[in-house]
Formats: sequence, C-alpha cells, structure tokens
Amino acid sequence: MTTNIILLGPPGAGKGTQARRLVEERGMVQLSTGDMLRAARTSGTEMGRKVAEVMDRGDLVTDEIVIGLIEEQLESHKDASGFIFDGFPRTLAQADALGQLLGGTGRRLDAVIEMRVDDDALVRRITGRFTCGNCGEVYHDETRPTKVPGTCDACGSTDLRRRADDNEDSLRQRLMEYYKKTAPLIGYYHALGDLFTVDGLAEIDEVARRIAGILDQAATA
Ligand code: AP5
Repeated sequence: MTTNIILLGPPGAGKGTQARRLVEERGMVQLSTGDMLRAARTSGTEMGRKVAEVMDRGDLVTDEIVIGLIEEQLESHKDASGFIFDGFPRTLAQADALGQLLGGTGRRLDAVIEMRVDDDALVRRITGRFTCGNCGEVYHDETRPTKVPGTCDACGSTDLRRRADDNEDSLRQRLMEYYKKTAPLIGYYHALGDLFTVDGLAEIDEVARRIAGILDQAATA
C-alpha cells in the first residue's frame, strides 16, 4: 500500500519542514519542484538561467517545465512507498496533469493537506529562514536555530545559505501568485473529497502530529 499526499500552502507555510520529517519517519519520497528548479538553475544551461530569473522575481515557472520534472521523478522512483508533493501542483493545469500521471502509474492521491498560516507569520518565517547547502535541512534564526552557530545539526556542514528569493519584494510577488493561481486548488481538492486542513501556525512538532493523524486515517480509508 502506498500513500501519496500533497502539501499545499503559501511560501513559508512549513511544507518543506514537514516533508523532510515524513521522509525520515515514513520513508516517503519528497518531490519538491522548488528544490528541482534550484538544482536546474545551477546547471549553467540557458533553461537554468531563465528559471533563475523567474524564481528571483517570485513568478511561477511554466506548467510545461514543472510537469516534465515531476513526470521524470515519478518514472525514476517507480518502487517508492509513497510521494509527498511539496510545492506541486500550483495551478489547475498542474493539478489535472498530476491526476493523470498518478492514474497512469496505478497510484492515487490519498490526501491534500492545506497548511494555513497568516501573512504576517509568513514574512517572519521567510526573512529568518536559512538552509544547509549540503543536506537541505531547514532552519530559522529565531524558531529553529542550529545548536552550534554556523554548523548544520543534521550533517555538520558549515555551508548554511539564504535563498535569493527570500526578500520582501519577491515574497510579495510569491504571495500574489499563490492567492491568484494556487489557492483555487483548495476548492478543487475539496470538491474531490481529498482536502484536509491543518493550522500551520502551531509548533513544528504539533503540525507533524496532526499530519501523521491525517496520514493514518487516509491509510485505513
Ligand atoms: P518553493 O521552493 O516551492 O518555495 P515556496 O512554495 O515559496 O515555499 P517555501 O520553500 O518558501 O516554504 P515552505 O512552505 O517549504 O516553508 P519551510 O518549511 O521552508 O518555490 C520557489 C519558487 O520556485 C517559486 O516561487 C516558483 O518560482 C518556483 N516553483 C516551485 N514550484 C513550482 C511549480 N509547481 N510551478 C511553478 N513554479 C514553481 O519553512 C519556512 C521557515 O519557517 C523555516 O525557517 C522553518 O524553520 C520555519 N517553520 C516551518 N514550520 C514552522 C512552524 N510550525 N513554526 C515556526 N516556524 C516554522
């Protein structure tokens, strides 16, 4: 039995933080289109340069590119015990494509978890975030600092980075894109009967507990 879920929420809602926990605790595969695109932007290709410009402005990359990335990943993880879609889908066209891709591989979507956080909290989260350039662990200046300043708790690397799009101008545009193009997916998945909502303002462990409860419920449905 596989479990496939979408983590849906605005920038800074905690999608990546919770996805990493599910990978550790349940062995699921995290498919983050943001991480894939950040890898593509460092490739030195013309496509990578264009993707970097779009991301730094806070706009969405084209449906065609991200759907292609997800298709490749589903193909190369055929035996996965379950997928966490983190930051995908972000448009109705992407949601339709995901339904078709999953159906084509005999999988189904078990739950779409909307993480609700108010805009003021998002600004604080995004402006305080840093990540490990080696293992991808996510930290925050105030709510989740490293135990030893400048060193990743998870892998010991000192390569701690801030994202180019984690500034106020890009964040404003990313939020606008979310409300215009991604928030309609809440109604779409509600209509399909797949939607669950968690309070993303709760503490990280509490959010994780609520998501675990939803997954356990979905597994027995
Ligand atoms: P992407 O990388 O997906 O970024 P995002 O959606 O903006 O989300 P973030 O990664 O910023 O936030 P998150 O929800 O993962 O929060 P996190 O766990 O880090 O996309 C980046 C760009 O790529 C897009 O703008 C677009 O250009 C492009 N793109 C990506 N996917 C695309 C697609 N499908 N289609 C088109 N374009 C696409 O947490 C944030 C901070 O808060 C951290 O510091 C963390 O420690 C802290 N925190 C987390 N949870 C809590 C909590 N409960 N309490 C207190 N602090 C918390």
